[in-house]
Amino acid sequence: MKKPISGFSKLNKLDKIEWVIKNSFSSNNNIKNVLQQYYNDDGKLQKLHDEFAENTLSNFYLPFAIAPNFLINNKLYIIPMVTEESSVIAAASKAAKFWLEKGGFKAEVISTIKIGQVHFIFEGNFKDLKDYFENIKPKLLTDVDSLTTNMNNRGGGIKNIELVNLNDQIENYFQLKASFETKDAMGANFINSCLEQFSKTFKDNFKDSSKIEIIMSILSNYVPECIVKAEVSCPIEELYDNSIVEPISFAKNFVRAVRIAEVDKYRAVTHNKGIMNGIDAVVIATGNDFRAVESGAHAYASKSGTYKSLTKASINDNRFSFSIEVPLALGTVGGLTKLHPLANLALEMLDNPSAEDLMQITAVAGLAQNFAAIKSLITTGIQHGHMKMHLINMLNQHKASDIEKENAIEYFKKNTVSHLNVEKFINKLRSND
Ligand code: MEV
Repeated sequence: MKKPISGFSKLNKLDKIEWVIKNSFSSNNNIKNVLQQYYNDDGKLQKLHDEFAENTLSNFYLPFAIAPNFLINNKLYIIPMVTEESSVIAAASKAAKFWLEKGGFKAEVISTIKIGQVHFIFEGNFKDLKDYFENIKPKLLTDVDSLTTNMNNRGGGIKNIELVNLNDQIENYFQLKASFETKDAMGANFINSCLEQFSKTFKDNFKDSSKIEIIMSILSNYVPECIVKAEVSCPIEELYDNSIVEPISFAKNFVRAVRIAEVDKYRAVTHNKGIMNGIDAVVIATGNDFRAVESGAHAYASKSGTYKSLTKASINDNRFSFSIEVPLALGTVGGLTKLHPLANLALEMLDNPSAEDLMQITAVAGLAQNFAAIKSLITTGIQHGHMKMHLINMLNQHKASDIEKENAIEYFKKNTVSHLNVEKFINKLRSND
């Protein structure tokens, strides 16, 4: 029976662990050991990680891997990726190699504007509100001077503020909608601080401030004006490797597979999930906010009113083209980017990119991942590669030794990988010992 507690956050870590063991587990069997195995013995590093969040008991490791051979705008990159999904890295690496020999990926940032909103209720005449907004606008901007000076010096800042009337949707509901350029920062803190000051200035200076009720001030993770495009293309006859039997039919089926994800929602979500396998892995490796990126990407996939593929494929004049257009609000300064030693290292591995460079690299990772998934799906089938990687996970579940793994990998080159078959194989191997 679990019990409520107050003041948990004030306990020291050992007491927290003791409390959790007493309240969440039926026996004390090995729990402390498991948690402590993932501590870092270097006290400073552990403290850094403990301070990323509250109530930390331990660390949760994920593989930090790299996919080499990414040629992007004629520059070669080694892309750091953090993912728990077996086969994502192998797929990215294969796609990178495939396109390396065909001129690589081209990427371009289309726009970098982010939006923030002050949502408020105004009970009164709209014309009065509009006049007031026009009068107060310069003060809204000067009152955030102390917040914007540094950003302005870096070439960013507030681009615009407008008054939005949404009274027809919710009674007396309006917004201050501001657009921001945040340069190399993702900018969430900057935007939110500006918005909170806008709301204060806006309410406090109105002749009867009780007429304005601020509901909330927050940035939007929908960033349809923070867009990057990435593309690959080649003559159809160059679409060739050991899994592609016939380039023409491969190209046609590839285009059809992408079309299916444009017209069918069930397929579109899985298709885009595959894209996010690549995007999230880079976003996490570089210390960026993958929840923001995920929600923004999926909202963008629905911008036409129907959820659709984020990628497009076509054949024109005997040339195959495959592209992605995706919103990516990323930073290379601020947040965890420089604070998390591995994120910092990941950025260094990418030659300390600007936020725009990182947008391009990340979009390419998404496109490459999607290319690899569709290529497998329309040729060998996805299970072929997946189960090969999954085999190792299954063998680890059976605590297989290195020799047992070697034997299993050999055996399953010609036999179907399944939980049952792996179990049978291991049992047989062990009974022969
Ligand atoms: C699995 O994580 C991702 C795929 O399902 C993506 C796709 O179907 O395109 C393979």
